[in-house]
Amino acid sequence: KPIVFSGIQPTGQPHLGNYLGAISNWVTLQEQAQSADETLLFSIVDLHAITLPQDPAKLRKERMEMATTLLACGIDPEKCSLFEQSKVPEHTQLSWILTCMTPVGWLARMTQWKTKLGVTKGAQSLEDVSTTAGLQLGLFAYPVLMAADVLLYKADKIPVGEDQIQHLELARDIAQSFNHYVKHPYFPSPRPIITETKRVMSLRDPASKMSKSNPSDQTRINLVDTPEMITSKIKRAVTDSIRGISYDRLERPAVANLVDIYAAMKRCSVEDIVQEHKDSSNAQFKEALADTLITKLRPIQAELVRLSKEEAYVHSVLDKGAEKAREIAYPNIVEIQKLVGLR
Ligand code: TYM
Repeated sequence: KPIVFSGIQPTGQPHLGNYLGAISNWVTLQEQAQSADETLLFSIVDLHAITLPQDPAKLRKERMEMATTLLACGIDPEKCSLFEQSKVPEHTQLSWILTCMTPVGWLARMTQWKTKLGVTKGAQSLEDVSTTAGLQLGLFAYPVLMAADVLLYKADKIPVGEDQIQHLELARDIAQSFNHYVKHPYFPSPRPIITETKRVMSLRDPASKMSKSNPSDQTRINLVDTPEMITSKIKRAVTDSIRGISYDRLERPAVANLVDIYAAMKRCSVEDIVQEHKDSSNAQFKEALADTLITKLRPIQAELVRLSKEEAYVHSVLDKGAEKAREIAYPNIVEIQKLVGLR
């Protein structure tokens, strides 16, 4: 059976970038999974979260909040396995084996640790970091753990946003490195499935992606934002001085980002939105966009409120999810250990 795997970090508020770049795509795949006879695995990647310092009490809370959010967005435990990465120890076991087969040079080329460290400490290159900033090994090895996530299940399809492509290319290289080491084509090549809205940009700067780690909350729409917050953030989103609404990623990146968000939320094409709003002022367009966001997020928010009182239910979903994931992970890790000579 083909396997679909994806993960999301339980840190910070889930926002529109996560929703349109990942979660809504997961829900769509879920609808198709039965006829396609696929197994779906969605993981809350708490081990990735601790590659940056986390407050333990906050992490505990955010793991549950992420599980609740995913369920509220339509992730259905009858149709997939939803689980926490740390509850399936095979992820860590495989990660170590792969760590031993990954050249440091491959990781040095990755951009994410540079950005993550650069933001906090101003470092640019591996030399900068090792001399001035103290790069933690876990953050550097992050992509190896991610490779382990997908390879553990021999997953074929990985639905992600554009920012994860580099990591998945590395996962393919690591898979080949392993296959070469054991002289056996054990791991298939994991394939990224990129969402149409592959890159939702910041509301304040169309050159940077919408992100949980941006210190300004004005740059993003969180799934839990109130109607007032949504209206105010969209009103203050940057646009340009060109009249009417048109779609041009290069010349009008800020407007194009808003059109992308609008089209994705309405589940219609960019052309439809442009046609409908070609004569609208920026203000009119923003008002329509804010209304759509409010209407589409309302049922998710209502479900969030309901589920946040059902903690025992959410725990039971995660427990069952981990159990189902281990039914695949355990026999695979046994095979992998045999191939490597550890059994
Ligand atoms: P994370 O938690 O940063 O984000 C979860 C998913 O949301 C997508 N995403 C976006 N898509 C479009 N526009 C944006 N502004 C935006 N921001 C986030 C991400 O591409 C991602 O798909 N390393 C991963 C988690 C992970 C994983 C995995 C994913 C760990 N193991 C194995 C796939 C397979 C991450 O940090 O995602």
